[in-house]
Amino acid sequence: MGFKTEAMEADWKAYTGLPNAHFLSSNTVGLHLAIELFKKKNGWADDDEVITTPLTFVSSNHAILYAGMQPVFADVDQYLCLDPQSVERRITAKTRAVLFVGIGGNTGQYEKIAELCRARGLKLILDAAHMSGSRLNGKHVGQDADCTVFSFQAVKNLPTADSGMICFRDQEDDAQVRKLSWLGINKDTYARTAAQGAYKWMYDVEELGYKYHGNSIMAAIGIVQLKYLDQDNAYRRQLANWYREGLAGQPGIHIVEVAPGCESSTHLLQIRVKNRDALLTVLNSNEVYPGVHYRDNTEYGLYSFGAGTCPAAKQASEEIMSLPLHMSLSKADVDTVCELLIRFTN
Ligand SMILES: Cc1ncc(COP(=O)(O)O)c(C=O)c1O
Repeated sequence: MGFKTEAMEADWKAYTGLPNAHFLSSNTVGLHLAIELFKKKNGWADDDEVITTPLTFVSSNHAILYAGMQPVFADVDQYLCLDPQSVERRITAKTRAVLFVGIGGNTGQYEKIAELCRARGLKLILDAAHMSGSRLNGKHVGQDADCTVFSFQAVKNLPTADSGMICFRDQEDDAQVRKLSWLGINKDTYARTAAQGAYKWMYDVEELGYKYHGNSIMAAIGIVQLKYLDQDNAYRRQLANWYREGLAGQPGIHIVEVAPGCESSTHLLQIRVKNRDALLTVLNSNEVYPGVHYRDNTEYGLYSFGAGTCPAAKQASEEIMSLPLHMSLSKADVDTVCELLIRFTN
């Protein structure tokens, strides 16, 4: 920690308009800290529930388990984000929070989920791993969540190698998380270095924290990457539009839509096809390497207790494919991928 991490936090607050930001070593640790901090502060019990999506990277759901709480899976909608109706049906007397994942940068029906959380007194945690630069109705995402966590991992829109940012709505939570991410120590190394006199080493350890803070090397990279974020995201949207034009009118290829009002970071451009696995093999043999984001988490042994509860997520998990989308792609590359997709989709 040092002046670079502080500068990265200040730059991120200025860019997003969010009131608080603490730089961490990853998004995964941020989600853990968010849930653990809310759990301690609000006296949540171990078997209390957090409603979450099965269509995400396992970090989102592991975070709930790290904090000793119970993930309850709700189903996804046409945007592959949590479906508010399904979330509402999963609310019980033990529900304490909803973890919303803006998959691919899409806001989905986030506003309805936020409304539901407000009405039912639930905390809203936004896993914004894919959402650096995503805006909803002109404002950067995260404004109305209790906590928003970004990822600046190597393949994300703002890549640093590995780091993340946790943004609490409440300033007290921000102050608290700074201690929790630094082993529970109540003075960070930078504050100690800056302090004068013989008492620099006199800190207290008030509670059991973790070594989860971000470092100046990642921050130095992030500060520069942030200058290019909007420009890079605009190029991602351009690539997505080329794909949309190239694949328009293809009955076997459904492109997942961006929700109304959302200017997506376009971390992913996802399509749905019926012959996904065979198509992936054909594309790979033509040196095109799409991704799959993600496998329905209830298919993993750890989360198999949720199997069968989210049919829309299960079906999506069998049909989705994320098309190549990176800064070095050209229009000609996109045309090549479109031609292959059209030729080999049933
Ligand atoms: C939806 C989602 N959540 C969380 C994470 C975890 O991010 P990090 O690698 O910064 O821990 C990822 C990373 O792939 C992700 O895609």
